[in-house]
Amino acid sequence: MPNPETLALDDDTSVLVLTGAGVSAESGIPTFRAAGGFWESHSIEQVASPGGFARDPALVWRFYSERRQKALTCLPNPGHHALRALEERLGDRFLLATQNVDDLHRRAGSQRLVEIHGNLFLTRCSHCAATPVRDEEEHFGPDLPRCPACARGGRESLLRPHIVWFGEMLDPRHLERIDRFMDAARRLVFLAAGTSGAVWPAAGMVNAARARGATTWLVNAEAAENTAAFHHFVEGPSGLVLPALLKTA
Ligand code: OAD
Repeated sequence: MPNPETLALDDDTSVLVLTGAGVSAESGIPTFRAAGGFWESHSIEQVASPGGFARDPALVWRFYSERRQKALTCLPNPGHHALRALEERLGDRFLLATQNVDDLHRRAGSQRLVEIHGNLFLTRCSHCAATPVRDEEEHFGPDLPRCPACARGGRESLLRPHIVWFGEMLDPRHLERIDRFMDAARRLVFLAAGTSGAVWPAAGMVNAARARGATTWLVNAEAAENTAAFHHFVEGPSGLVLPALLKTA
């Protein structure tokens, strides 16, 4: 067992990181389950499900437009920057899987990034398989954006946020990329930060890593639902803990 104070990274070590809403909390983006979180004023069914979008697409676009506005006023914090610095050090021995859709890891400079729940600033067709496009617009009111590819075929299809909603599958290519990364590691460290461990399949990633012999770390403001699955738990805000932990790693 390595020294519990340090990740003990050497030239053989690969690091898989999983982040959740807590990592963006110090940037000013509310977490999901905290008081004042996103779901408080709207039900999940209304704003984060295919059925909700079918019933009231204008409400859904207003909700995500407000989230776009909010995210654009926020900046990456020292936790995001510490992960980018670790990637610079490890190169292809680093992969960051995030449940966050706020784009802050990308804005901090992270490149080996898998956004398993989508991205707030990507828009895609609700009908066809056209590639999602970068979109920072806010869509309010009755003139909701429509798919140009479908329009060429005479079909009127609404565009929608490129977010994984409840009842939808994660992109299997993302999960495969994470699996391949774990399989290729000579020695694997798994680090989860700012996530409640309540939403699957992300919550099960620690078990998949342990099945490959990984040493596992959790950095969180409080115990997560799956804390017991980790070898090490460092309790505290990720904006403080991650820079300190990764600097000495
Ligand atoms: P949650 O809101 O469920 O959990 C955030 C976790 O971060 C909690 O355990 C907090 O204690 C912790 N936390 C808060 N502030 C922190 C800080 N400054 N430093 C470290 N930890 C802190 O968010 P997620 O686990 O990311 O899915 O939620 C997972 C998914 O649930 C989300 O991606 C979203 C939601 O349904 C979809 O939208 C598909």
